[in-house]
Amino acid sequence: MIVHTSIANTSDAASWEQALVDAVDFLTAGQVVALPSETVYGLAADALDRKAVARIFEAKGRPSTNPLIVHVADEGMLETCAASWCSIAALLAKHFWPGPLTLVVPKKPIIPDEVTAGLNSVALRWPSHPLMQAVIQRFQGPLAAPSANLSNRLSPTSTEQVCAQLQGKIPLIVDGGSCSVGIESTVVDLTGSIPTILRPGVIHRGVLSALVPSIQMASGVMDPDEGLAQRSPGQHRQHYAPEASLRVCRWEDEPSLLGRMEHEGLDPAKTCVLCHERFPSSPPFMRVSVIPNDPEAYARALYAELFQCDQLRPQSILVEEPPSKEAWDGVLDRLQRAASGW
Ligand code: TXA
Ligand code: MG
Repeated sequence: MIVHTSIANTSDAASWEQALVDAVDFLTAGQVVALPSETVYGLAADALDRKAVARIFEAKGRPSTNPLIVHVADEGMLETCAASWCSIAALLAKHFWPGPLTLVVPKKPIIPDEVTAGLNSVALRWPSHPLMQAVIQRFQGPLAAPSANLSNRLSPTSTEQVCAQLQGKIPLIVDGGSCSVGIESTVVDLTGSIPTILRPGVIHRGVLSALVPSIQMASGVMDPDEGLAQRSPGQHRQHYAPEASLRVCRWEDEPSLLGRMEHEGLDPAKTCVLCHERFPSSPPFMRVSVIPNDPEAYARALYAELFQCDQLRPQSILVEEPPSKEAWDGVLDRLQRAASGW
């Protein structure tokens, strides 16, 4: 079914207020609304209304086996959702909330199975984006919201990117500008005996282990395709992918890069390059994007750059391999997933 998609701008006090009213009206009516968060745009619905939640899966084409993050904006909503709140959850929430960290904890029965894909746990996040917070508070209830993209596609960090994927499928997109974090939140599972990072993000294991020394990365424990898929069903390998084939590689200089591409049958005129340290010239490449050599600035720019590349319909996207330091974990993870189509 095709629906008319309105875009609510929030650039002055009156339009901000109108956007809030419209968003809450749709949510109260059991509809879905795309909202800005500090990480990526989310596709939100009433987390306690199973029919509304079903509309999220429908709009995204998301498999029902992939659970959603529930967003809260006060302690009361946390209590509505979490069956228990361990001391590590309290510590991490104190340090990083509101912000780009999601905590998986035991759930209360009020959270429908549709949200958690039948798991006994729920992923909770208290976002810092003022607009998302205002909508949750005005709605007075938790909102389930995955990233506002079609399943297995790039998460959007701007209204333009949400539109490109969901226009005609959802009634409202609230425009809150570009997302300041740029990649999805770090997901930490606190339901097992050892706190486990299921999805790395800008709050990386270095910072987390300073507070929780026992914390571990899930990939070191389980096969991402099998064990982990059970535990965090959204973590299949190909996720967050642009439409073009993406490959992560290193090069010494432009001649060596061109030589390698010729060997692999890649046409530079149909190839976009993303680099942060060794910049090839453009042309012969279709596009060369220079991303700052800093993990947070890189994360902020990554999806927007990949989106720009995709618009050109390249044959391939070559990404200069980022450093293998823990602050880059989130970026590396997204690049590896995007590259797994190869
Ligand atoms: O930054 C973000 O986290 C964004 C914004 C909108 O908040 N949301 C987001 O949602 O990235 P989504 O649905 O694209 O990713 C949610 C991730 C998935 O990998 C899912 O498997 C995992 O969280 N997850 C959700 N509930 C879980 C649970 N109960 N146990 C384990 N993993 C869970
Ligand atoms: Mg997603």
